[in-house]
Amino acid sequence: MNTIRLSQPILDQGLTVKQAMMRRHSTREFFSKPLSLDTLSEVFWAAYGVNRTEGKRTVPSAMGLYPLEIYGFTAEGVYKYNPESHSLTMITGKDLRVKSGTQDFVAGAPLDVVIYSDYDKFITGNPETDDMIRGNEERMSLLDAGAVTENVYLYCSSEHINVVERAMVDQAALSKELNLPSNYHFQVAMSVGYPPIPA
Ligand SMILES: Cc1cc2nc3c(=O)[nH]c(=O)nc-3n(C[C@H](O)[C@H](O)[C@H](O)COP(=O)(O)O)c2cc1C
Repeated sequence: MNTIRLSQPILDQGLTVKQAMMRRHSTREFFSKPLSLDTLSEVFWAAYGVNRTEGKRTVPSAMGLYPLEIYGFTAEGVYKYNPESHSLTMITGKDLRVKSGTQDFVAGAPLDVVIYSDYDKFITGNPETDDMIRGNEERMSLLDAGAVTENVYLYCSSEHINVVERAMVDQAALSKELNLPSNYHFQVAMSVGYPPIPA
């Protein structure tokens, strides 16, 4: 399947924001079972989904430019998230989870999320905006990416799903594997999955 239509988030379940903050933590152990479509949908919606009619997102973004591109690595392949249509487009049918990080648990996590920034999004054609951003692309991208990862952490906390943010990635190898252009800059990755079944 080349496009996965994601489901809309269910807004009236889960912990309060404060409860979710209280139990937020990183976990590096995952049950291999794939995430349900509803969970997958909510992970991406929390990460970068549209939450207002004018197309703005669940996370803030410097000047509303939304430079990030969010990828999901699963056993079925690698998908790119399309916030506007709330869907995933398959970019390869290969299981590349092992390439999304250098730690052992990464290949077995049902979902590895990888965040890139497309620096071309910072070129708006508006000289004032472009002058303000020039030289700040890295800072703006990382700040936006931090908001994404915290949203995913809080969502996972609220739903009792395991998650860890990861910087330990062979960025050059990953970008090459995905055949990404030089304006795409790796930001950070995350592994997401249900907790292992207790022994
Ligand atoms: C920017 C960033 C990069 C991180 N990179 C990794 C990583 O590569 N591998 C890993 O296992 N954990 C990584 N972590 C998770 C931290 O180790 C974890 O957040 C920290 O130990 C605090 O634990 P807690 O999240 O449970 O509060 C990263 C966290 C952040 C914010």
